[in-house]
Amino acid sequence: MSLKKHILDLRKRKEQVEKGGGDRAIEKQAAMGKMTARERILALVDKDSFTEYDLFVEHTARDFGMEKKQLHGDGVIIGTGTVYGAPICIFAQDFTVAGGSLGLMHARKITKIMDHALKMRVPLIGINDSGGARIQEGVNSLAGYGEIFYRNTLASGVIPQLSVILGPCAGGAVYSPALTDFVFVVENISKMFITGPGVIESVLGEKISMEDLGGARVHAETTGNAHFFSNSEAECFEQIKKLITFIPWNNDKKAKAFPPKPPKFKGKIEDIIPSDPKTPYDVRDVIKAIVDDSDFFEIQDLWAANIVIGFGRLNGETVGFVANQPLVLAGVLDCDSSDKAARFIRYCDAFNIPIITLEDMPGYLPGVDQEHAGVIRHGAKVLYAYSEATVPKVTVILRKAYGGGYIAMNSRHLGADFMFAWPMAEIAVMGPEGAANIIFKKEIDEAEDKDAMRALKVEEYKEKFANPYVAAAKGYIDSVIEPSETRALLLHAIEVSANKDDHRPAKKHGIPPF
Ligand code: HXC
Repeated sequence: MSLKKHILDLRKRKEQVEKGGGDRAIEKQAAMGKMTARERILALVDKDSFTEYDLFVEHTARDFGMEKKQLHGDGVIIGTGTVYGAPICIFAQDFTVAGGSLGLMHARKITKIMDHALKMRVPLIGINDSGGARIQEGVNSLAGYGEIFYRNTLASGVIPQLSVILGPCAGGAVYSPALTDFVFVVENISKMFITGPGVIESVLGEKISMEDLGGARVHAETTGNAHFFSNSEAECFEQIKKLITFIPWNNDKKAKAFPPKPPKFKGKIEDIIPSDPKTPYDVRDVIKAIVDDSDFFEIQDLWAANIVIGFGRLNGETVGFVANQPLVLAGVLDCDSSDKAARFIRYCDAFNIPIITLEDMPGYLPGVDQEHAGVIRHGAKVLYAYSEATVPKVTVILRKAYGGGYIAMNSRHLGADFMFAWPMAEIAVMGPEGAANIIFKKEIDEAEDKDAMRALKVEEYKEKFANPYVAAAKGYIDSVIEPSETRALLLHAIEVSANKDDHRPAKKHGIPPF
């Protein structure tokens, strides 16, 4: 055959395989409002940057009529590309081919690109759209999942791993996304669950739709399994691209620096916080008043909203924010917000991203529900994550810092590098009202006008303890600062921390309160 004929033959073969499960299956995919696997990859990566591998891989199953079936690419597309110039490895399951089900060769393709990502030290993006383990391939499918989970774990903390749920992700398949750093879901498209509605109905007699069981909102608002929620695949891809700009390629690198930009916020930062300490405000306004271009990229905004986490830039450098949110539950720490904060702190620490903590909270949430849900174990994760982190760690106490909350939110005692407090900060074992009721109980009980005496004692307590100066006198706080100085001091703190070198005792690994 002449070279020209070889090339024509190659093109024809490629064209056939690129059709995936064929026109009817593609039409069905489109009718569900879903893009095909190939369209998704091409929409996500930079133009003309995608290179595909293993296009001609064939399945090897020989039972249940599989020997007669040709499954193009074995239901998954793998390759490399760039996103805003950053190299990435990617796989996308193709639901049009046997429901994107995972057989032996399908799994081998995924593990090949995972190995490649780990060797090349570049982010891995996995697009999940699959009916789960390919039933006809039995234990080979299960083996495939195990080998994926193993690699997810090896790669954890070395390269960023992003999971995009764009269809069903059922059964054990959910555990690969759960092991990765960031999970993206799309309204009406993503479905994630361990046991489907059919099994639940037959075993428990309960009827539930797939959407209510494990739809995008469920995971973005209730379970916290998802980090980013969007209304369309196009919006989801924009979120992924934006995230890639904030994080480094691997744990040896820093995130790419951007040209510095002043915040767009034009008001006065001190006007954001009401003078009455009981009146809430949105801490995201404070973050926007601080970060470059007022561009704050929030993560898990719909779940455990009493804590706010996300990325921003200071003088062009990526930083991670952990901030109590007084708008929700007064910004307390509880089981979910502790999990949310702790995981993010560990992410930032693994990937060389300095952590800025903004504190305004009355402590851990009291109550039987929280105690029985394990607030001790969950709350301990925050202490562990902050204490363990060796990246630059800066805290600004905006208003309340009471009790365990004061310690937990990256206090000096857990290794904060710089501790700033605004002048209206209240640093105390508990709120002035609660404290006065306990330590001045006798005086209040014996007074003729109990309310007047209580008010007097509350004031006395506030003056003595509920301020930043007692902590500053001990050096627990480095500086009491004017709110308007915050950005400049944070820029300085990050600048002088550039060569931070913090050694810890050698060990195989710690045992965090998972
Ligand atoms: C083989 C599968 C498959 C699977 C779907 N297909 N899931 N083939 N193994 N697991 C095939 C279908 O036979 C069909 O093939 C095509 O994919 C499209 O599927 P439909 O059912 O027509 O699509 P839809 O109506 O959209 O329903 C999608 C679905 C459903 C909800 C995902 O297919 C389904 O419930 N599948 C089974 C899910 C499941 O229980 N998986 C195993 C989980 S256990 P044709 O040829 O007709 O087009 C598991 C264990 C892993 O994953 C453990 C790891 C630790």
